[in-house]
Amino acid sequence: MADPLFSVADKVVAVSGGLGQIGAEFVRAFHERDARVAVLSRDVDPERARSVLGDLAGSDRLALVPVDVTEKEAVEAALASIEELWDVPDALINNAGLDTQPSAPAQASGPFEDFPEELFREVVDVDLVGTFLMTQAFGAAMRRVGKSGSIVNVGSIYGLVSPVQEIYAHLGAETGVPFVKPVAASAAKAGIYNLTRYCATYWAQHGIRVNTLTPAGVARDTQDAQFQANYTARIPIGRMAEADEYNGAAIFLVADASRYMTGANLVVDGGWTAW
Ligand SMILES: NC(=O)c1ccc[n+]([C@@H]2O[C@H](COP(=O)([O-])OP(=O)(O)OC[C@H]3O[C@@H](n4cnc5c(N)ncnc54)[C@H](O)[C@@H]3O)[C@@H](O)[C@H]2O)c1
Repeated sequence: MADPLFSVADKVVAVSGGLGQIGAEFVRAFHERDARVAVLSRDVDPERARSVLGDLAGSDRLALVPVDVTEKEAVEAALASIEELWDVPDALINNAGLDTQPSAPAQASGPFEDFPEELFREVVDVDLVGTFLMTQAFGAAMRRVGKSGSIVNVGSIYGLVSPVQEIYAHLGAETGVPFVKPVAASAAKAGIYNLTRYCATYWAQHGIRVNTLTPAGVARDTQDAQFQANYTARIPIGRMAEADEYNGAAIFLVADASRYMTGANLVVDGGWTAW
């Protein structure tokens, strides 16, 4: 029997970046628990959706909705199409994000002193402004129709503490430019925590809850063994995360089990920030 405390059945759940590594796991987890899931993505090519989500992509409880979270009009159009199809969402997972990868040009992954302003603005635009625009539109709609909604903002351990540069230093060996984990996502994600608290207190009387979920690094095939070993050494649990290991926290934050929780930060980091 499904536990009503953790039930998300019949809820309309919107997941931004829903075809990304963690986002697709959120989509699967909510869909498996009988929610109706709006997969908000910049790329809504059905072929791509099928390659990421498999048969789920054809489910009548799943909708592919185009959005660029940095564009207010696109955000409002995405919300309107979900409302027209189902209803105002009961939950929004602000998962879309941009980070600078080791494959970035040397200038973008080199010394902080040379980090390009343009790239800093681009990352802040997605990670912070995008979360603001999505939260503003979806929260306003929840308030308009009197829904007790839940908004989950995905943060990062690197929004709580600084990256440990030693983990990455070997990555530039081939190019001769030592890789420096860039500043932009750290700064943008840090802003998520007080955007969350602000909206949580602002909407608390209206039954709309807003919390942050803080993940640590997920293992990917593209990471080299040295990086994985360096990263793992920093994690008390002794391994990097699997992409689906944030699902329990996301379900908890949307379900009734967390009904007295708002403005909080649920840290799921294998103990990274405990050291
Ligand atoms: N993977 C990790 O190790 C890790 C660690 C800490 C935090 N996080 C956070 O978790 C979230 C998901 O990360 P992920 O690793 O799955 O990333 P990912 O790159 O696999 O997915 C992110 C998704 O966001 C989408 N996106 C980017 N810009 C967008 C825009 N302007 N409009 C709409 N969508 C946009 C991308 O298309 C992509 O599908 C991010 O917020 C990330 O910062 C990830």
